[in-house]
Amino acid sequence: MSALWDREALEAASGAEALGGWSGVSGVSIDTRTLRDGDLFVALKDVRDGHDFVAQALAAGAGAALVSRRPEGVAEDAPLLMADDPLFALENIGSAARARVTGAKIVAVTGSAGKTSVKDALRAVLADQGATHAAEKSYNNHWGVPLTLARMPARTRFGVFEIGMNHGGEIAPLTRFVRPHVAIITNVLPVHLGNFDSEADIAAAKAEILEGLRPDGHAILNRDNPWFDLLATRATSLGVTVVSFGAHEGATCRLLKHKQNPTSASVEAEITGERVLFKLNAPARHQAINALAVLVAAKLAGADLAKAALSLGRWKPGDGRGAHKNIRIDAIDPASAFTLIDESYNANPASMVAALETLRLAQPGQGAHGRTGRRIAVVGDMLELGESSGQRHAQIAEAADMAHVDQVFACGPHSRLLYDALPKAKRGAWAEDSAGLASEVRAEVKAGDVVMVKGSLGSRMATIVETLTQISHRKKR
Ligand SMILES: Nc1ncnc2c1ncn2[C@@H]1O[C@H](COP(=O)(O)OP(=O)(O)OP(=O)(O)O)[C@@H](O)[C@H]1O
Ligand SMILES: [Mg+2]
Repeated sequence: MSALWDREALEAASGAEALGGWSGVSGVSIDTRTLRDGDLFVALKDVRDGHDFVAQALAAGAGAALVSRRPEGVAEDAPLLMADDPLFALENIGSAARARVTGAKIVAVTGSAGKTSVKDALRAVLADQGATHAAEKSYNNHWGVPLTLARMPARTRFGVFEIGMNHGGEIAPLTRFVRPHVAIITNVLPVHLGNFDSEADIAAAKAEILEGLRPDGHAILNRDNPWFDLLATRATSLGVTVVSFGAHEGATCRLLKHKQNPTSASVEAEITGERVLFKLNAPARHQAINALAVLVAAKLAGADLAKAALSLGRWKPGDGRGAHKNIRIDAIDPASAFTLIDESYNANPASMVAALETLRLAQPGQGAHGRTGRRIAVVGDMLELGESSGQRHAQIAEAADMAHVDQVFACGPHSRLLYDALPKAKRGAWAEDSAGLASEVRAEVKAGDVVMVKGSLGSRMATIVETLTQISHRKKR
């Protein structure tokens, strides 16, 4: 196993003291459930104190543990890295990881929606052209970003980092760790409004990502977003070059054509003066706009644009972010299948409207006895919308693409307002929570239907996806 960090380098990077006999670690972990052999286990304090899990981590094969004290049950000669503050030490390891990849090009991504989608697509595109490092998950907060940095191998050629926030001031320190060459702000939308006085404050908080850009860096900004001018002015005042993307005719990366098919789209675009044609395995318009940011980021990071466009055509959205799945109700009979569009990972008003567009574009199949499949939306609460929450939920009932939805199933107190605003014929069922709704949807879905599931992470819509994914088990012979 090649070492990610050897003992001396880790000691120097973290400012911590190495104890016990060990020579290095092959990875970094903060969670014993996903820990791999040889990982450095970092005892962070979150909901629970990571020190309670150190003995378990070492027993599971951790190469060493980064701690502020020797927890009970941990042997005198255990491999430890002793620091006053493990999170601070992890940040320092992250900074050292960034400093050692001198030849790498680094991209940072923030925005109200689409960070992970853009990060994942960019990772897929860049990985076809050189050693690429990015987190498997969202990992965009005060420990996720340092952890992802600390995991970056020395031979990395491209690094992609997602940076998120719930409050102003959270992005600034993280972008300074990442020190990107290219920073993307996917968009500024009225989400997390509960934590901000205004949308302008959200825009200002997103703009913090520009503060970590290197002086020769590029800011990739959404030309279609109402906050473009504010963000561009901020970028210019920091001396970085602005590159814009969108359908706007002034965009430097511009969407020229977007032909939508049931599960894909063909896109023509101009990326800083170069024409590209590419396929996307995602039909909704926002995904084509995201793709422009992906392509120009790859180009600015030194990747080949034509090759990047080809790679993008092979990429598919991940679980919870628009993945299409074909599921058989009868395990044996292929004609019993329905389509599940898994948007369960997260939701805000903009992405909810976008998901309804994806549902409209999807083509229901033929069911039993000549019956045509339906378009079914299963929606959970969109959280963190502050005082305007009720109104924003009710407005979803008025969205243009709602006209194409046959049945709506909803759960949660906020979605009740959405549900009640619908014409009676569209109301499938409402339940207090997703667990309660899952059985209702399960009983209703039929062959040929297209079912789109979406809600905020906290609404636990993944429960419904799981129930529907396992639906065929009931008829397995
Ligand atoms: N540009 C966009 N506009 C609106 N919705 C989008 C956009 N890009 C992606 N989405 C949708 O938003 C949802 C969340 O996507 P994604 O996980 O990529 O966002 P995120 O910014 O990483 O979210 P989080 O803050 O939870 O990390 C998905 O349903 C996705 O399809
Ligand atoms: Mg994310």
